[in-house]
Amino acid sequence: MNIQSATAIAHPNIAFIKYWGNTSDALRLPRNGSISMNLQELTTQTTVTLDPSLPKDIFDLNGVRQTGDALRRVTDHLNLIRGIRGISTRAHIHSQNDFPANSGIASSAAAFGALTVAGVRAVGIEMSEKDLSRLARRGSGSACRSIPQGYVEWLRGSTDKDSYAISIAAPDHWPLADCIALVDTTNKKVTSTEGHRASSSSPVQEGRVLDAPRRLERCRDAIMARDFNALAEVMEQDSNLLHAVTMTSNPAVYYWQTVTFDIMQAVIAWRQTGVPAAFTIDAGPNVHVICESSVSSLVREKLLAIPGVQDVMIAHPGEKAKLA
Ligand code: DP6
Repeated sequence: MNIQSATAIAHPNIAFIKYWGNTSDALRLPRNGSISMNLQELTTQTTVTLDPSLPKDIFDLNGVRQTGDALRRVTDHLNLIRGIRGISTRAHIHSQNDFPANSGIASSAAAFGALTVAGVRAVGIEMSEKDLSRLARRGSGSACRSIPQGYVEWLRGSTDKDSYAISIAAPDHWPLADCIALVDTTNKKVTSTEGHRASSSSPVQEGRVLDAPRRLERCRDAIMARDFNALAEVMEQDSNLLHAVTMTSNPAVYYWQTVTFDIMQAVIAWRQTGVPAAFTIDAGPNVHVICESSVSSLVREKLLAIPGVQDVMIAHPGEKAKLA
């Protein structure tokens, strides 16, 4: 096989049980396993074209030429892939997100999922889903979960070989929706990578990690049984634990804004009146409100009525990363 150019698409994912902290930052080996859902309506499409005439990689994101850290991270990841094949040919990388650039959804998961699938094919290697997931993990931890389809578990493992993600249920297993309430669309101030590094300075982190197997089991069982209340309980607790760690790390990081907390309280109140909705929050102020698909329009309307909510995007369980 001598393919020089390949295009792949991948979706971001939202974690119900979150990844926060590594045993190896270099290999992105996580302290705990995690569980997520791919987001079908949000897509990153990436083309990798090998070009022997290039002195270094060129990376265009949404039509804008990238330099500095963004380019370095992509080159580092392609170097891993080129290394497997024993080549050093530089590449032109075109990446396009179909979600708004200013949405505050800067998904490294979709980015490194698509880059991995396209890069591996461009250099002419065949790889199993497991090995693609292991490789995507090296680019961004959460990217390993964007390789398989639907509902996904990242098996923590303890080495590069046994830390990867598998699908635990197909997208149509449970029609949930993620109503993403956008409250701030500027770039986040403290990146996840920095957050992972700081996590061990929080005394809360050890408790969060020790209890992770219980939360993973509760979440897995809730997904299998399509038990929304059980999912809501463990998902909100897990999100709060992550933020308890960031707020007690050194230096402390506060990702929430006032409106973030307003939404959390509103969602809890809606659930008490019978609306199947629950919140989870990543390393930023936007709130992912996970709900049964049947109530997603209602949840969107309710969210838009909260002062400070700028927009709401809705996404459903997504497909795996694949060649376009
Ligand atoms: C809060 O995968 O973005 O979204 O490996 O440094 O790229 P890097 O970190 P990243 O961390 C994701 C953190 C999170 C929780 C999660 O998605 O599990």
